[in-house]
Amino acid sequence: MEDIRLSLETPGRLSIRGDEWRTKQVIMNLVGNAVKFTDSGKVEIKAARGDGVVEVSVRDTGIGIAREDMKALFNAFGRIRAKGMPIKEGTGLGLYLSQKIADLLGGSIRAESVLGKGSEFTFTLPLEYKGGA
Ligand SMILES: Nc1ncnc2c1ncn2[C@@H]1O[C@H](COP(=O)(O)OP(=O)(O)O)[C@@H](O)[C@H]1O
Ligand SMILES: [Mg+2]
Repeated sequence: MEDIRLSLETPGRLSIRGDEWRTKQVIMNLVGNAVKFTDSGKVEIKAARGDGVVEVSVRDTGIGIAREDMKALFNAFGRIRAKGMPIKEGTGLGLYLSQKIADLLGGSIRAESVLGKGSEFTFTLPLEYKGGA
């Protein structure tokens, strides 16, 4: 990390009923990745309310992900070894676990990315958690 700008945007107070610890775990994973894979530019964290859901998106101007690597992104121990990229610490479990957690919470995670430009991960979770985990 050299010089990145972090920004946070939320529409005032957004509260959800659910599992606080697990929700934080997912958001921290996504923000941690964004910061780790971005050397310059910015990381933007936004939360917005949708129809019965809250969407937390984490957007970065980092190294991005090649189209062919997108499908393995959420695999256990899945780490992308791009040529010329410095090796970063990690287990390759963060996104795998985040997706499992999102599922347990009745939500989901989606990823969009352009290699060399940046990535956006969006974590959607229901405003009201109903049963399950
Ligand atoms: N914001 C991001 N920008 C670029 N690559 C990412 C980003 N988030 C995840 N990745 C890629 O997906 C892989 C898996 O992420 P994750 O499961 O969190 O593992 P880890 O952070 O331990 O490497 C990372 O190793 C990296 O190659
Ligand atoms: Mg990670």
